Amino acid sequence: MDILVTGGAGYIGSHAVIELHKAGFNPVIVDNFSNSKEEALRRVNELCSKEFTFYRTDVRDAVALSEVFAKHQFAAAIHFAGLKAVGESCEQPLNYYQNNVAGTMVLLELMAQHAVHNFIFSSSATVYGDPDSVPINEAAATRTTNPYGASKLMVEDISRDLCLAPNNAFKVCLLRYFNPIGAHHSGRIGEDPNGIPNNLLPYVSQVAVGKLKRLQVFGDDYDTVDGTGVRDYIHVVDLAKGHVRALQYILEKPADCYTFNLGTGNGYSVLEVVKAFEQASGKTVPYDIALRRAGDIAACFADASLAKAELNWQAEYSIERMVSDAWRWQSKNPNGYE
Ligand code: NAD
Ligand code: UFG
Repeated sequence: MDILVTGGAGYIGSHAVIELHKAGFNPVIVDNFSNSKEEALRRVNELCSKEFTFYRTDVRDAVALSEVFAKHQFAAAIHFAGLKAVGESCEQPLNYYQNNVAGTMVLLELMAQHAVHNFIFSSSATVYGDPDSVPINEAAATRTTNPYGASKLMVEDISRDLCLAPNNAFKVCLLRYFNPIGAHHSGRIGEDPNGIPNNLLPYVSQVAVGKLKRLQVFGDDYDTVDGTGVRDYIHVVDLAKGHVRALQYILEKPADCYTFNLGTGNGYSVLEVVKAFEQASGKTVPYDIALRRAGDIAACFADASLAKAELNWQAEYSIERMVSDAWRWQSKNPNGYE
């Protein structure tokens, strides 16, 4: 069964391709390499002993993407392609709306034309903004504070409207990811951010490997266990498996729009993550306490029970496994895919 995987060369997409293949699907990858490298796909092929079909195509290019649709009879599309840096989205809002919203529109229109009605979308816990309470369930209010988050919420709204239309044939699964970290256990694929990382785990990994000097811990005066920010970190392989379950789920379900949190349900503070990383790597991660980062919230973790009940999916890997896999990837590939 051919499954279109946009953004399949990226961090989460590359892990999802492997899990889709393991579950018997045939992922067909589209990526423009705006935030990834060909080497990632080469390694995915190597790990699966298979040459996946790949198109170097921008999802905003309707002509090129329609040629991909003409060559395959897709059972579904899993849409990872998009831009994801919150700070950059404030500097380049048009670029974010163009890639994340207009790009998705091109994809959905082609899906409608080619009668491909199963759509899985990479949404984010960012749509909850600063939540009223934790753990956060799918019925919680949504609000956003930056163009990246707004672009995710817009696609959610478009998807819901699509499913409300008379005679709708679409089955949409909106997956709200919490904080994906870690890497494939082989250490061959993982997260390879451009420049100085924004996110905690890649930053900590680069300090441990000696590329960066010290971690700045953004605030130690939050109302949390030790004053530092608390997040729901989820192993990227668990997250990838969640997509396989979501796909199997919508293939069997009636046309509608379904929404799931993909998280572990556990929150860890910045200092707890640093400690777990130091234990796994045997390296010291020197840090300074810095001011709070603008836009950050104290605590964010999922109520993951809906995905468990409906998708029969729950995250399996511990924080120790997440950080040890992150370290294996970083220490074996200090310069990422270069
Ligand atoms: P990533 O940047 O590693 O992967 C995205 C991939 O999409 C890249 O390979 C990039 O080259 C490609 N891409 C971007 N724009 C494209 C376009 N117009 N046409 C074709 N390809 C394009 O990011 P990721 O961490 O793997 O995230 C995947 C998705 O999950 C994104 O939509 C992101 O917003 C969402 N998400 C990520 C996180 C996270 O923390 N990583 C959290 C929540 C949601
Ligand atoms: N942090 C530091 N120092 C750093 C980086 C991060 O102390 O150098 C702290 C943050 O203040 C926060 C925690 O580590 O308390 C996690 O920060 P990340 O930047 O790794 O992740 P966020 O929760 O801020 O945001 C991420 C993505 C968003 C997404 C959100 C929910 O970047 O796009 O998870 O999925 F919306």
